[in-house]
Amino acid sequence: MLRILPRPARGSKVLVGPDTWDDAGVYRLSPRQALVQTVDIITPVVNDPYAFGRVAAANALSDVYAMGGSPFAALSIVCFPERGDMAILRGMLRGASETLRRAKVALLGGHTIRDAEIKFGFAVTGAVAPRRVVTNAKARTGDLLLLTKPIGTGILATALKRRLLGDRDRRALTTQMMTLNRDAAAAMVAERASAATDVTGFGLLGHALNIARASRKTIRIWSQAVPYLSAAPDFVARGVWAKGLDSNMAFVDPATSWDEGVEASSRRLLVDPQTSGGLLIAIAPSRVNALLRRLTRAKVRAAVVGEVTARRARALEVVA
Ligand code: CO
Ligand code: CO
Repeated sequence: MLRILPRPARGSKVLVGPDTWDDAGVYRLSPRQALVQTVDIITPVVNDPYAFGRVAAANALSDVYAMGGSPFAALSIVCFPERGDMAILRGMLRGASETLRRAKVALLGGHTIRDAEIKFGFAVTGAVAPRRVVTNAKARTGDLLLLTKPIGTGILATALKRRLLGDRDRRALTTQMMTLNRDAAAAMVAERASAATDVTGFGLLGHALNIARASRKTIRIWSQAVPYLSAAPDFVARGVWAKGLDSNMAFVDPATSWDEGVEASSRRLLVDPQTSGGLLIAIAPSRVNALLRRLTRAKVRAAVVGEVTARRARALEVVA
C-alpha cells in the first residue's frame, strides 16, 4: 500500500522512508540528531485489560528500538465501543502508562474514537544519531542473525481466545509480550549491528524477507535453531493458529526455498504472526559473541538463528 505514496526526493531530510519496509521513518533534524516516528495499534491479545495495555505500549515502542532509536514521547490511539465497560478502558490505560513510565516515555495526549472492536496503540517519537540508525537495508554477506525472543505468540494468543491455554502458558505469553526490546536494542547499537527489525505481524520469515530484499541478500534460517514458546508446536499440531499465519505463508512462500527436512508444522511456526516480538539482528560474525555477552548481562535470551549470504535464486532459504 505504501508504494502509492510519493518517494522522498534525493538529498531530502528523510533518512528512512517507506521503501525499505523499515519499522519506523527517520527524519534528520541536524547532522547529529534525527527523529524516529512510528504508529502501531493492535486488537486485544490477552483478556486482562491492564496486561493488554502493557503489551500495546511495548509493541508500539518496539519499532523505535528496532531502528536503534530512543523513544521519548507518545500519543495514544484508542478505539472503544460506545457502551463498553469503562473499567476495561481504565485498565488498558493504566497498563500502558506503567510501560511508558518504565521506558521513560512521556504521554503527550491522544485520540479516542468509538468502534465496535477494541483497538489500542500509540504513535511514538524517538531520537537517534543519524549515523547510528539501524535499518533493514544494510545486512552484509557473512552476517549472522540473532533473535531475541522466542516465536509463537500468535498461536498461543489464538489458543487463549479458544480457551485452550493453561495458566502457565498464558503467563509465559503475557510476560514475553510485555517485555520491552529496549535492552536488546541498546546491546545491538553498542555492538554496531548491520541491520535489524522487530518480528511482528509478518512472522519471523516475513520480517527476514524484508531484510533480505532491502539489503539485496539471501537469508538462510536454521529452523532447528529458532526458539519458540514451548506450547506452540503442540497447538500447531492440533490446527490452532490464526488466519494471519496462512496469509504470511502465502506472502513468503514464493520467495522461499524449503529444505525437504523442514516439516509442515515447523514451517507454520516460522510464519506465525507475532505481537511485540523480539528483534531480528544481523551482525558481523566477529561481533556475535560480544553481542551475546551483552544480551546475557541484560537478561535477554537470544539465539543465533541463521545467516546472510550473497543473493541466490530465492531471497529466503529455510534449512533443517
Ligand atoms: Co516493526
Ligand atoms: Co509496526
